[in-house]
Amino acid sequence: MRVTMIGTGYVGLVSGACFADFGHIVTCVDKDESKIARLLKGEIPIFEPGLDELVKDNVEQGRLFFTTDPAKAISEADAVFIAVGTPSRRGDGHADLSYVYAAAEEIAGLMNGYTVVVTKSTVPVGTGDEVEAIIKKTRPDADFDVVSNPEFLREGAAINDFKRPDRVVVGTDSERARDLMRELYRPLFLNETPIIFTARRTSELIKYAGNGFLAMKITFINEIADLCEQVGANVQEVAKGIGLDNRIGRKFLNAGPGYGGSCFPKDTLALMKTARDSGAPIELIETTVRVNSARKQKMAQKIVDALGGNVKGKTVAVLGLTFKPNTDDMRDAPALDIVPTLQAEGAHVRAFDPEGMTEAKHMLKDVAFASGPYDCLQDADAVVIVTEWDQFRALDLDRVKASLKSPVVVDLRNIYSPAEMAAKGFTYVSVGRP
Ligand code: UGA
Repeated sequence: MRVTMIGTGYVGLVSGACFADFGHIVTCVDKDESKIARLLKGEIPIFEPGLDELVKDNVEQGRLFFTTDPAKAISEADAVFIAVGTPSRRGDGHADLSYVYAAAEEIAGLMNGYTVVVTKSTVPVGTGDEVEAIIKKTRPDADFDVVSNPEFLREGAAINDFKRPDRVVVGTDSERARDLMRELYRPLFLNETPIIFTARRTSELIKYAGNGFLAMKITFINEIADLCEQVGANVQEVAKGIGLDNRIGRKFLNAGPGYGGSCFPKDTLALMKTARDSGAPIELIETTVRVNSARKQKMAQKIVDALGGNVKGKTVAVLGLTFKPNTDDMRDAPALDIVPTLQAEGAHVRAFDPEGMTEAKHMLKDVAFASGPYDCLQDADAVVIVTEWDQFRALDLDRVKASLKSPVVVDLRNIYSPAEMAAKGFTYVSVGRP
């Protein structure tokens, strides 16, 4: 089957490479010439474990191609995926659909024969209808269907999530398009992955409802963590205690500094906007957004408190800047709130992140960037773990203690044991644990 991906961002690149690995012939199209030039040289513009080998293998096998020229790729395709960005529109939080609509127009002008146009970008309810209208208007004679097929992969675990998803969601009323989508996902179908066929609008909403629910689940456990701190309970044990109830589930119950990234913050805002505009506001999501953004400030205060209420002139070492490990993505990372707040209180910040520093240098001011974790915490007044990279999980604690000016560790990801840290003589502060 011939597949064309419009957009080589996270979702486009990973999905394109994985579809090629399923055996389809995939062409990834992007307007960004430098990005395509890098991809043609075998360079991957994002950090995602395993993606470089997957791309290399499939290029070598003649199944994966990159181009800036959409003409041939679209005219020959059985399925064209729209996988362009849908950033928050400035001001009102609504998803900016201009890239999606531009892609629809481009596809309409170039498609040839029956083509399934699939929106993989996260798009608000009704976008598929608009894409269909644009194509019909541009090419009244076109033979096509528009399908919604949201993507649920996580950064840092993207390939595994794509190839072993909990489910695939396909939104269309067209039997012909369903057959094509079934064929496209055949390897997963054979693996008994549930494939949910539904209406297009329902499929579009499934994506937002899923992300909204997960954001709410994290925010719930974060608030329970705050309560644990007040009443002397342990949030990790509470999470385990409730998570073993299958109706709740254990995943996404890790308390921390608040969710960030390119999806939850943007998608909760867009869901809020759609719900308000439709006259059915979702108060739980509105509260989630408010509580999560206040939390990032709260975390900075936690660090100040751990240092005796005053950080003026003190050096705070920050380990981890990205919104989660195994990515170089800094979008809406809690560090972007925590670091400036500490600086505003008079602290000097020194930071280290295994993959995020190139990006962080553009986003954070007056931070001294270190070459490794120990270099980062040398002579600092406190060390704060903001992102749980594996390499921070097993630091040599004696060396940490000897390097710090004062033995204060603020662990916003609960990766160390309070008892062990106390035994080593640290002043140790974590999230929701006594
Ligand atoms: C998220 C969803 O998990 C994916 O299913 C979805 O496809 C994706 O958004 C998207 O819409 O494209 P992602 O943003 O890559 O994926 O990362 P997550 O692993 O979900 O983490 C998001 C944030 O929540 C991170 O800041 C993370 O640290 C935080 N988090 C996650 C917690 O604080 N606690 C948890 O238990 C889990």
